[in-house]
Amino acid sequence: MLTTNLNAMNKAGYEVLILKGDGIGPEIIAQAERVMDWLELNRNIRFLRSHALIGGEAIDLEGAPISDATMQKAFAADAILFGAVGGPRWETLPFDQRPERGILRIRKELCLFGNIRLAKTYDALVNASTLKPEIVKGLDLIVLRENVGGMYFGEPRGIMKASDGSLFGLNTHIYTDEQILRVARLAFELARGRRKMVCSVDKANVMESGELWRRRVQELHDAEFSDITLVHMYADNCSMQLVRQPKQFDVILSDNLFGDMLSDQAAMLAGSLGMLPSASVGPIGPYGVRAALYEPIHGSAPDIAGKGIANPLATILSLAMMLRLSFGLTAVATLVERAVESALSSVGTPDIIRADVRRVGTVEMGDAVLSQLENLKK
Ligand code: IPM
Ligand code: MG
Repeated sequence: MLTTNLNAMNKAGYEVLILKGDGIGPEIIAQAERVMDWLELNRNIRFLRSHALIGGEAIDLEGAPISDATMQKAFAADAILFGAVGGPRWETLPFDQRPERGILRIRKELCLFGNIRLAKTYDALVNASTLKPEIVKGLDLIVLRENVGGMYFGEPRGIMKASDGSLFGLNTHIYTDEQILRVARLAFELARGRRKMVCSVDKANVMESGELWRRRVQELHDAEFSDITLVHMYADNCSMQLVRQPKQFDVILSDNLFGDMLSDQAAMLAGSLGMLPSASVGPIGPYGVRAALYEPIHGSAPDIAGKGIANPLATILSLAMMLRLSFGLTAVATLVERAVESALSSVGTPDIIRADVRRVGTVEMGDAVLSQLENLKK
């Protein structure tokens, strides 16, 4: 079961922790919050919002990329909405103090093992992709990225000294049975609600961790998910197939590192990195509720921060994922997604600008979504 059952808990509202972060984070989150305001006024939804710092701003003001107090809020929230972290100002800090550690700590400590990244090509953006329209039209795929294991977190790690005094950098690519099986299960469950196809990605031809990955995914499939079509693909081939014939994919299941790359690549199929929402979900807890964090996949984009031109749609679509996955508000989620799609037909931020639409900035894109919500509310 993917959606959770918060309603049964009789809460006064949905507790959402909002972490704007750095770069364009505050600008894009502001537009998602306007959508939240609209839903409160028009759809009788209560969000109990709290805000906290993460990333570079948290380093500057609180001395760490995420404070323990913010971690406590993250644990307590029903869902987290996250912008982006990082920027050139903090790039020279030691690894364990960089802004990125903030989001990595949340992923790890909340055990958000499944990162669902949606790549969907809206008809209005078919010409915004660098690929030919016929290759991307109607594309709708998920990259499900394992989010708390593999190369990102494996031990030992570090920059170390060899016996001759020279340095070497070390990371460990490690996957346990449990880590593989829980994310594979999520992939099959997601596929059941879609076109029932999973493509599992690994480098089983080179890496033992990939060999175990492939074996365990296949076993779980055979034991419980034989209604799903499962194929295995080497990561390099998958990367090639994604640009050759992306519509062959429904759910791509991959480890942390391959998923980081394949999801950026998938984003360009959808026209822009600025269009891809994501959800990072944890195990189902005692009340049938999953911890979950929602974020656009594009990052902090320091080069355009503060210019008011960032595309807020991936963040608004991430909010829609929250409504659907964490709160079970399917109709409202669909309404927000429709509003985004309708807005695209008349306006575009610079990353998705086309000849036939008006060029707008971040706030005007938010305006366009709100006015489409008004149109669609009937
Ligand atoms: C992403 C980002 C992050 C990652 C960074 C910011 C740590 O690239 O969410 O894809 O590598 O996972
Ligand atoms: Mg990435």
